[in-house]
Amino acid sequence: MHILHVVGARPNFMKVAPVMRSLNQCSVQQTLVHTGQHYDVNMSEVFFQQLNIPAPDVNLAVGSGTHARQTAEIMTRLEPVVVDTKPDVVLVYGDVNSTVATSLVCAKLGVRLGHVEAGLRSFDRTMPEEINRLITDQLADLLFTPSVDGDDNLRNEGIAREKIFRVGNVMIDSLIRLLPATQNGNGNGNGMPKRYALVTLHRPANVDDSATLTRILESLLEVNRDLAVVFPAHPRTKQRIADFRLKAEQLCVLDPLPYIDFLALQKRAMVVITDSGGIQEETTFLGVPCLTVRENTERPITVSMGTNTLVGRDPAKLRIELSKVLSGKAKKGTVPPLWDGRAGERIADILVSRE
Ligand code: UD1
Repeated sequence: MHILHVVGARPNFMKVAPVMRSLNQCSVQQTLVHTGQHYDVNMSEVFFQQLNIPAPDVNLAVGSGTHARQTAEIMTRLEPVVVDTKPDVVLVYGDVNSTVATSLVCAKLGVRLGHVEAGLRSFDRTMPEEINRLITDQLADLLFTPSVDGDDNLRNEGIAREKIFRVGNVMIDSLIRLLPATQNGNGNGNGMPKRYALVTLHRPANVDDSATLTRILESLLEVNRDLAVVFPAHPRTKQRIADFRLKAEQLCVLDPLPYIDFLALQKRAMVVITDSGGIQEETTFLGVPCLTVRENTERPITVSMGTNTLVGRDPAKLRIELSKVLSGKAKKGTVPPLWDGRAGERIADILVSRE
């Protein structure tokens, strides 16, 4: 059996690692394609090293561009690779442009497609990721979901029950495997304040509009009066802060961090303030309060079971929720079922048993 994996952006890497590792133990032939959507060393290569992912067999080197251009470029460069390598199944991960581009290529070539992290929905079609999720799930033959809400969404969209496999959360597999590494060496907290809020922001809706980003940064400066703000900034966000000539010097703004270093910071944070999808899940697993700067989430289980609270873009709501955290009244969560470090194994078992 030959499985071809396609990854491209930072949040894909922690998802592919456990699946490849589990398939290795089943002696399956594997090919890894990196689209090159993310290309900076600290957005890509360092994740391959820390997660112990083999070097990609093919790098499509598409780089940045508008959505149409990036998606089209991935499709054009990927098609001959799929034709030449003739995989039995192609696996795609998450909801990035590399995911949807690959899905379109495979559907048109009639190659079986598996989607890891299927079924998540924010019901907000202004998010590029929501479009990517909807299309990928319509085209996939095997849909691997992280939680029951994923199954429900897919069933509501008319996806046949036989195609849906609830396997749990592959990202948590990587977290569990590398959590011990946060004790030694990487991210041991040297130079970090003892109590801090860890912040990440990169959603176009939050950072591409000058007035919105200004308001969010003002809120963070306010947070910084009570609790030091540590802010590893995505390249897009750094660029926008510079473009809009905004002031963020009082915050501890860092470059994007490697996986283990960021995990260490999350684990020790008093609170995480973010607009990321994956970080809502990681904080739920770690039991760290998470305030999500978005009006909706495609990961509602992190709110209903976990430590996540949506604060939207309302500074007042952020202030109220932060004061709960500071006074020890943050909500306590539990870890959702099947977020147990074995999701990759389940995916491998399903693929191998259907050979
Ligand atoms: C992408 C995903 C998003 C994911 C995020 C994680 C889509 C639609 N979005 O968003 O779901 O949460 O990755 O980071 O696929 N850039 C660099 N170096 C890089 C990569 C990007 O400088 O290695 C800059 C470029 O200026 C680029 C911008 O960041 O134009 C945005 O990158 P892009 O890949 O288009 O989307 P992300 O915002 O990273």
